[in-house]
Amino acid sequence: MTDKQSPIEQAVLLAGGIGTRLRPLTYQRPKALLPVLNQPLISYELKLLGRFGVAEVILATAYQADKLRPALGDGGQWGVELRYVQESLPLGTAGAIKNVESLIAGPFFAFNGDLIMDVDLALMAEAHEQSGAEVTILLRQVPDISHFGLIQRDAEGFITAFVEKAAQDSTGQNTINAGVYIMSPRLLAYVPAGEPYSNETDLFPALLEQGVKLCGYLPHKQGYWRDVGRLETYLQVNQDLLAGKLPWLKLPAVELAEVGEDVQIQQPCCWDKGVVVESGAEVGPYVTLGEGVKIGEDARIEDCVVHPGASIGAGADLQSMVVAENEQVPAGHKQTQGVFCTYEQ
Ligand code: GTP
Repeated sequence: MTDKQSPIEQAVLLAGGIGTRLRPLTYQRPKALLPVLNQPLISYELKLLGRFGVAEVILATAYQADKLRPALGDGGQWGVELRYVQESLPLGTAGAIKNVESLIAGPFFAFNGDLIMDVDLALMAEAHEQSGAEVTILLRQVPDISHFGLIQRDAEGFITAFVEKAAQDSTGQNTINAGVYIMSPRLLAYVPAGEPYSNETDLFPALLEQGVKLCGYLPHKQGYWRDVGRLETYLQVNQDLLAGKLPWLKLPAVELAEVGEDVQIQQPCCWDKGVVVESGAEVGPYVTLGEGVKIGEDARIEDCVVHPGASIGAGADLQSMVVAENEQVPAGHKQTQGVFCTYEQ
């Protein structure tokens, strides 16, 4: 079944953050390119936009900007047309949008570039149009708001307050900013050009103070949504997708390049081309292996993401962790949680 198409056909994706919370993984590549089930993190947003007919996507880049184009190309494989704009210094989440103002033709989607989600963009566009607001912010109800910006709204859905770093919501709603917006280009008049400015802490509170209408959109049906900001959420998203929580995701069937004797594979797992699993190894559940990964004899690996080119030594025992690109985990190494990574910066 094809999705109803969105009347809004342009999007800006914010892909220039430094990703400090995901270090050391973000020393090697920008967060947008971290592999999730062996696909770049930002490709899940590109695919969602393509599905809803949002064909023109502007990628606002800064940190390690030169790595994005070789990895994502023209966007054709996800049904979008990608344009890349690089900031001379990171301009923050609002400054980055201001920086692409000359390319914007009308109301547009703006996404934080580190989300994996199942959101009906056509319904969100409808809600934006009906509310007459200058900006619509996707809301999400979560049990724990401590990692997010809290948003309160009135009975008609218009936003009344932004509360940063709250431990609890006095209204009991627990609605947070999901990092997905529809904006009118008129808003950009409120953003200073060429200097760092944030949507969350500068622009939105300033708009509220000046009486601009902001709509908080909470869909009737909450689909999958996760923000990949920390190691814990990075591992969780890999696990969720292996468990089938993103209904539209189809994984390509890839054969293991070599499998030794008495190997035990406990699904769900996924691997890319050229993966070798030696005799007696136990893999899974919830393991993702990147291109060319090698798992040594009798190694045990569960709930892990192994980046391309890494090898796991014989008898190693790894759980709930990430192995960085091209790393060689020594034989017999035991580790639970964290990252195996020998490079710095
Ligand atoms: P942390 O340093 O760990 O907080 O990560 P981050 O730098 O990615 O910041 P944050 O998670 O708050 O950013 C949310 C989204 O905005 C991410 O997709 C970032 O890539 C993006 N972003 C943050 N700052 C900038 C910026 O200065 N320029 C651009 N183009 N994007 C940004």
